[in-house]
Amino acid sequence: MTEVRLAECAGFCFGVRRAVDTVYEQLGTGKTIYTYGPIVHNGEVVRELEERGVRVIQNREELLGMSPGASREEAVIIRAHGVPREICEILESKGFACVDATCPFVKKIHRIVERESRAGRHIVIVGDPRHPEVEGIRGWCDGPATVVENAEEARNFALSEGCELCIVSQTTFNYNKFQDIVEIFQKKGYNNNIVNTICNATEERQRSARAIAAEADVMIVIGGKHSSNTRKLYEICSRECANTYFIQTLDDLRLELPKAVRLVGITAGASTPNKLIEEVQNYVRIKL
Ligand code: F3S
Repeated sequence: MTEVRLAECAGFCFGVRRAVDTVYEQLGTGKTIYTYGPIVHNGEVVRELEERGVRVIQNREELLGMSPGASREEAVIIRAHGVPREICEILESKGFACVDATCPFVKKIHRIVERESRAGRHIVIVGDPRHPEVEGIRGWCDGPATVVENAEEARNFALSEGCELCIVSQTTFNYNKFQDIVEIFQKKGYNNNIVNTICNATEERQRSARAIAAEADVMIVIGGKHSSNTRKLYEICSRECANTYFIQTLDDLRLELPKAVRLVGITAGASTPNKLIEEVQNYVRIKL
């Protein structure tokens, strides 16, 4: 008898699930719903929400050109990655009903950088400067802030005399790389306040995928082609299981399972909706 086993931490992390649930809740109020930026990095989820009438505000400029309808029956939802403080202020000044679905782990970073920069510390954000989460964090600093993405940038960083540092990280940054960068700052002899703000959702997802792949005869990884965390899952699973498949939708799955398969493992990237994971699970069960 073949077993189909889903990895413990497959698919949406806590923060993304919470944000998507918030959109569905708000849809139930009958208001016109906007999200500031796409709510998740998954085209299908965004398309489905658009079909239900959810509109995406792409950027600050678009927001500046908008005004809420006279009935005020409109709500703007802030996605899990968060936004700079200025965006919240614009929403408020325009009178939009704002529903903040920023992940609490990201919100915590906003509070840290706000407090520490007000206390006069120079903020260093370890992360990808182009990532919306990092742009958001930067937007909560009340003084100088620098984004550092790699060891070289850390080595080149120079702090003005008498200044103190506060170092935080993007929630999805690689822990070992963060440690290496922190070490470089420590060697510089600055007075540093280091706060490790890496979220363990990514690590947990990878750990549970690896554990199943190590036992599985066939492993299926579901997620977007451009999703870097899904590609990483595929890489990890392929190392453990030679029959690892990377699929985006159920249509990509053309499994010709050998008869002797004992265990089929399934995992999914952070932006893969539950519905798709269930469809794949059911399909594989029927095939067996
Ligand atoms: Fe997800 Fe929040 Fe962590 S959005 S990756 S649970 S910081």
